[in-house]
Amino acid sequence: MNRKYRKTVIAGNWKMNKTPSETKAFMTALKATMPKGRWCDVVLCVPAVDITTAVRAMRETRIGIGAENVHAMESGAYTGEISAPMLVDAGCKYVIIGHSERRAMGETDNDVNAKVKAAIAAELNPIMCCGESLEQREQGITDEWIAMQIKAGLNGVPEDKIRKVIIAYEPIWAIGTGKTATPEQAEEVCENIRAVIRKLYGAKIARAISILYGGSMNDKNAFDLLAKPDIDGGLIGGASLVPEKFIKIIEAANQPQM
Ligand code: PGA
Repeated sequence: MNRKYRKTVIAGNWKMNKTPSETKAFMTALKATMPKGRWCDVVLCVPAVDITTAVRAMRETRIGIGAENVHAMESGAYTGEISAPMLVDAGCKYVIIGHSERRAMGETDNDVNAKVKAAIAAELNPIMCCGESLEQREQGITDEWIAMQIKAGLNGVPEDKIRKVIIAYEPIWAIGTGKTATPEQAEEVCENIRAVIRKLYGAKIARAISILYGGSMNDKNAFDLLAKPDIDGGLIGGASLVPEKFIKIIEAANQPQM
């Protein structure tokens, strides 16, 4: 990570875990053990039904709450969906968009792009995910694939809004598998993502955008991943469900030598 130019972000992705009651207990434990002093940005993206509880519990802290998905439209006849203005009013500051688990359910690059724009219009910070499958990695097409996902996802996002976007690189083969990308593998792709952003928006913006790594990041491997210059934080699934583990990752990101 490079603190001089950009924010370090440790973001949890709870996926379909924890009820509102469990959320309350987690937040109490987290608040009690959060390290004192200067932190990186800490975010927890939680299921929609947990948002109000999480926001309320975190009101006195600097932890930002986020959603795990958003609809592209502001309102209307979309049964079961939640819009960006609704998330903002509920207290969200962030939203995960284009997670590979949602892409696997049919979300396309066009959907991701429309959701990113809707999030930005509502002043949310989108955490836009990209990542290759094991097959794509073995075919040697990782860089092209990721570049395509980034270009498509950011299509039409203007220069004066792009700084709201956080990118998360999550190789599909590393998610929930316990098989983390090596720091070198993760850095190589994050560096490539920054090069794509540089081509699209110029060097100054590329230097300012935070790029996170996600995929079996935990309290044991976080330090080495975060030591890489183009990895500015993590999107953490499993390890964000346990306060002690999540805190250790935040502490790794707070190490002064990085
Ligand atoms: P994991 O999930 O940390 O459990 O691998 C990461 C993610 O899917 O965002």
